[in-house]
Amino acid sequence: MQRILVTGATGNVGYDVIRFLSRLQAPVQIVAGVRNVEKARQVFKDLPALEFVQFDFEQPATFTEALNNIDRVFLLRPPQIAKIKKYFDPLFVQMQKQQVKQVVFLSVQGAEKSKIIPHHKIEQSIKAFGFDYIFLRPGYFMQNLTTTLLADIREKQQIVLPAGKAKFNWIDVENISEAAAILLHEFEHYKNRAFELTGYENEDFYAVSQIITENAHVPVTFKNVHPLRFYFIKRRMGMPRGKILVMIMLHFLPRFQPEPHISDFYEQLTHKAPTKLKTFVVRERVHFTP
Ligand SMILES: NC(=O)c1ccc[n+]([C@@H]2O[C@H](COP(=O)([O-])OP(=O)(O)OC[C@H]3O[C@@H](n4cnc5c(N)ncnc54)[C@H](OP(=O)(O)O)[C@@H]3O)[C@@H](O)[C@H]2O)c1
Repeated sequence: MQRILVTGATGNVGYDVIRFLSRLQAPVQIVAGVRNVEKARQVFKDLPALEFVQFDFEQPATFTEALNNIDRVFLLRPPQIAKIKKYFDPLFVQMQKQQVKQVVFLSVQGAEKSKIIPHHKIEQSIKAFGFDYIFLRPGYFMQNLTTTLLADIREKQQIVLPAGKAKFNWIDVENISEAAAILLHEFEHYKNRAFELTGYENEDFYAVSQIITENAHVPVTFKNVHPLRFYFIKRRMGMPRGKILVMIMLHFLPRFQPEPHISDFYEQLTHKAPTKLKTFVVRERVHFTP
């Protein structure tokens, strides 16, 4: 039986990848690679067939056991890990040693064009090591509204960002994870290609605030701020410097870039349309209520 190691298993995408893979009822063994096995067992206690192994990018000593008899890896970059050579290359070396040759990597839309983002470097490394790969390049997660941006929405009924009128492509993590599960399952058919995963809506934060107001019945407004002001607001709130700089890069730079490209790959793969923003807001509206 093929064995698939899922990294980031307790995060937004990894959690759903495991659920979609389990639902496929394919003859594969799913192994969740996690930092805290006991905590993860609680998270997935409804999936008795799931195996767990300790896996920590910052502790290379965990790699050997985690990669034992693994055929394929679902790989993501935890947001706080920026030093790619330091943390990913030792993993790739160990994968080579243990004959783990196939990787589905959660990248980001536009990674091929932007040499400064870590995902670009990881994609290049995966190719240089000679693995068979699939690169998934998703747009902007709808779930940012229910995670990173949620505190301001709940406490101030505001989204505060230096994003101006920049349009983002909005994609539901459930769609990304479902696509990832299918690609992990049908790896041979899709291997050595990159796929953009987007929703069908490019919208700015003014429009998204309006969608939340109308569909979650919470009057949310968008407050555009200068990047420096954003920096000081978030520092006062105790956000780490590195995270603020990443948020500025993610939300300010798109103001100077063309609108994101829209891809129909999710629909091709699943024969379903991707989630609409309105559907997402209605589904998750309990989060937005103060
Ligand atoms: N947000 C967006 O709009 C967007 C768009 C495109 C691409 N992306 C990319 O998506 C990725 C993030 O995915 P996500 O939202 O699913 O992440 P997430 O929810 O932040 O979860 C991160 C996962 O990584 C695990 N993790 C953290 N540090 C680790 C370490 N040292 N070793 C092993 N595991 C570790 C965490 O486990 P613990 O439970 O142990 O903390 C958690 O399972 C990033 O690479 C991001 O750039 C994001």
